[in-house]
Amino acid sequence: MRVISTIGVLTSGGDAPGMNACIRAVTRTAVYNGWKVYGIYRGFEGLINGEIKELTTEKVSGTINKGGTILKTARSMEFKTPEGRAKAYENIVKFGIDALIIIGGNGSLTGAMALAKEYDIPIIGLPGTIDNDLAGTDFTIGYDTALNTIMDCVDKIRDTASSHDRIFFVEVMGRDAGFLAQNSAIAAGAEAAIIPEDSANVDQLAQFIERGVRKSKNSSIVLVSESKSGGQGGAYYYAERVRNEYPEFDVRVTILGHLQRGGVPTASDRILASRLGYASIEALKEGQRNVMVGIDDDKIVYVPITRAIHQDKPIDRELIDVLSVLSI
Ligand code: F6P
Repeated sequence: MRVISTIGVLTSGGDAPGMNACIRAVTRTAVYNGWKVYGIYRGFEGLINGEIKELTTEKVSGTINKGGTILKTARSMEFKTPEGRAKAYENIVKFGIDALIIIGGNGSLTGAMALAKEYDIPIIGLPGTIDNDLAGTDFTIGYDTALNTIMDCVDKIRDTASSHDRIFFVEVMGRDAGFLAQNSAIAAGAEAAIIPEDSANVDQLAQFIERGVRKSKNSSIVLVSESKSGGQGGAYYYAERVRNEYPEFDVRVTILGHLQRGGVPTASDRILASRLGYASIEALKEGQRNVMVGIDDDKIVYVPITRAIHQDKPIDRELIDVLSVLSI
């Protein structure tokens, strides 16, 4: 087993509330174990360009309650190339980094695996994304805060929807996953959610209209997942369809956008981030490599990164029934 005395930590991809709590936990647990910690700035970009500085316990003070990421983040195109990864590895050697902790979502962990396949460097992934779309973990860091943000926004939109008797399509993030849309719809008491998981099976708009929500209510709020990988979808698409197919309804669209990524992390996200950050150092001490640390049934688990990024994470069908029954 490789002896570890120096680690590097970076955040990559979309920022997520709780990333700072996670950086803090990684740093403090490593320092507690007598290790040196390097913070790598701007994700894989910083690894390529050598934007690497030591992190101490003091440097992460006062960060647990801050949104965004003190290490900054990026979506690096250069790291997708073997030449980019070669430059990154040169810096790993130059700074004497024995292992890497990567906090990020699907794209970031895919990048991590590309590096792990080419070079002998243990990598531990930590799920940091508001999308909650990584397999093998019940929750990702940032998801709970984003859910709460969406819920607060929908509560406000409800005032206008009901005052004007309107249908609102509220578009939320999630890339190709409907967790944010489905669960914020339940939390905000919305009338429906249109999610990518069901887009091939049913016409979710027709289903929503046919369920006759407007028979018992004068207004409706429908949470719509963004349509990231092209194809049909997104709030504007559904609003246009209503205008054409059901012109009797007054329709409006709200795109919540990057509002969802910011803000003070919730207690759940801070605790999750702290537990996962702590566990990432324990994983390295146990000789784990190329695993993502996740949470399953409130227990820490190690999931092969390849599984976390490639396996589909299904939506619990019961959530769909809950929303549909409770929105009558
Ligand atoms: O992966 C997080 C996420 O917020 C997705 O929900 C969204 O599709 C994407 O990032 C937006 O990325 P960017 O901030 O680079 O536009």
